[in-house]
Amino acid sequence: MEIIQITGQTPLYGELTVQSSKNAVLPMIAAALLAKGTTAIKKCPRITDVFHMTEIMEELGCRIRWENNTLCIDTSDSKTCRIRALSAGSMRSSVIFLGSLLGRMKEADIPYPGGCVIGKRPIDMHLAGLKKMGVVFEEGEQNLHAKAENLCGCKISLPYPSVGATQNLMLAAVLAEGTTSINGCSREPEVTQLVVFLNQMGADIVWKRPDCLVVHGVKELHAITCQAAADRIVAGTYLAAAAATRGKVVLRGAPVGQLDAVYRVLLKTGGKLRITDDTILFDGSQAVKGIEWIKTTPYPGFPTDLQSQLAAILSISDRKSHIEETVFESRFAAVEELNKMQADIKVNGRVIEICPVKKLYGARVHARDLRGGAALVIAGLAAEGDTVITGYEFLARGYADIAGDLAALGGKIQKIEVQDE
Ligand code: EPZ
Repeated sequence: MEIIQITGQTPLYGELTVQSSKNAVLPMIAAALLAKGTTAIKKCPRITDVFHMTEIMEELGCRIRWENNTLCIDTSDSKTCRIRALSAGSMRSSVIFLGSLLGRMKEADIPYPGGCVIGKRPIDMHLAGLKKMGVVFEEGEQNLHAKAENLCGCKISLPYPSVGATQNLMLAAVLAEGTTSINGCSREPEVTQLVVFLNQMGADIVWKRPDCLVVHGVKELHAITCQAAADRIVAGTYLAAAAATRGKVVLRGAPVGQLDAVYRVLLKTGGKLRITDDTILFDGSQAVKGIEWIKTTPYPGFPTDLQSQLAAILSISDRKSHIEETVFESRFAAVEELNKMQADIKVNGRVIEICPVKKLYGARVHARDLRGGAALVIAGLAAEGDTVITGYEFLARGYADIAGDLAALGGKIQKIEVQDE
């Protein structure tokens, strides 16, 4: 198995180009099904969630080819709507195939998407919206079957700006008859990027308001070549690592316009920032201040996907901090592991109380989810002594090479292969 080994207390210093976005490319891969032909996604990140999605696409009869970092998907011979790939049940993003299979074939048969440590992650909003469009569901033991005689445009109001529900409904609506409006939709950049991607394919989607998308159904879409955008959560993770190690980093090719809430938080810790058109210069040498209260909210608020990483920074700040997690009901799996490194963090429902400590100490810890694992990496880089992190498979889901990236910034970190215990 692969583990991460870190020797801490080396301030990060250097510059790095940010990888492309996991949460932007996953729905694009599913969306490729909506057109016959070969869709190419340049600068596609080589992460396990992408590999799982391509396995599912192959099961659906698509041909997958990598040309360097370009992922090519030929959907010409895709004829089945049935997914049984083991990976589909283990990852949340497989639910996005509901919308694209219904869009292409008016039918879908998928395993229930995996829940995970961050919460139950129901799909009631996806199902309610699709039912309004004319989809009939049969809920089996292990799988969900969906079928529609016709997909009809309609008015949908989401009770919560769910990213996945917004994306699924868009994918089902682009080839539906008539117009679909999605009120209360998600405003995450990955939704905006999917709108651009689908419109490039020939869809007709407009933003009526910042929280309302209108999709005018068209007859057909065509395959395209596009380039994936940079990952705002990876960029935020590395800024957090620079803050925790009191380092100074330059992130090139960064999604500078998608991180305002993160900038505000980093400035509150005492960090200093300079932003140019696609570069973030961050000086974390004075990033020592705690933050009385901060909460995660849907975009453009502080992202839930950076909550654990922020906890790692605040665990060694100069005053007590609180983080309220409003998006997921139980996204504090990293706390127990951070406390093994002598952090002093208490969980009170959806709020964590972080009592600052002078320093963290290296330990053997276990990643239990993707972003919680990133928080452990950050804590290991800041801690005195050596840290070993198991559960690397979680990190590989979203970070193409977190150890290589942070080593390139001067961190004493490596990924190594060890015998399974
Ligand atoms: C996407 O998940 C991201 N994943 C998540 O990133 C991200 O944390 C999340 O959006 C919020 O920004 C991908 O894009 C692949 P939601 P998604 O639907 O679409 C509840 C990462 O680390 N809900 O916006 O699943 C849900 O339980 C991952 O990269 C319902 O109750 O998120 C949650 O509490 C983690 N019913 C909240 O809404 C529904 O039908 C937000 O979920 C749908 C959602």
